[in-house]
Amino acid sequence: MLGRSILRLRSAIGLVIFSSMISSAVVAQADVIAERKANFKANAAAMKAINAALGGGDFDTVITQATTIADWARVMPDYFPENSDSGDTKARADIWMDFDGFKSRASANEQAALTLISTAKTGDVSATIGALKALGGTCKSCHDNFKD
Ligand code: HEC
Repeated sequence: MLGRSILRLRSAIGLVIFSSMISSAVVAQADVIAERKANFKANAAAMKAINAALGGGDFDTVITQATTIADWARVMPDYFPENSDSGDTKARADIWMDFDGFKSRASANEQAALTLISTAKTGDVSATIGALKALGGTCKSCHDNFKD
């Protein structure tokens, strides 16, 4: 009798652990989508701020904002775990069919942001505008391939 109820208790505990694992996976997925979208929104705001700062020759702001973009680009692929293509997201399934291609576009984005930083440090406005345009091109290249 005792053996049986221990068995039952065990399987009940197993069930609780198992179902809490499922629900935390679902929550984690929703979180990761919300987090990456927030970071992309910050990217758009950073691009805007850089554009405005360049008009006033404010290279410090250019550098700070470009650093935010580079930092996000470096970790971006971690925010696209497998199966995070469903829910409130515009991420295309192509990301997981060609994850190397996706990662190389994130890396190109990071490199372009780092180039923008080094160019801004020279204080050359037109070269910095060129670097900003090149950075914008790396956003678009990924969106054209991997975002709805
Ligand atoms: C390597 C790929 C990649 C790069 C590089 C990239 N993005 Fe995105 N971006 C995405 C994907 C994928 C989504 C869709 C995310 C989702 O809906 O889950 C997205 C979404 C967005 C969104 C919409 C966010 C929202 O609230 O739904 C904005 C704005 C954005 N990106 C701006 C940028 C800017 C600006 C850059 C460059 C500085 C950039 N992105 C670089 C892949 C990329």
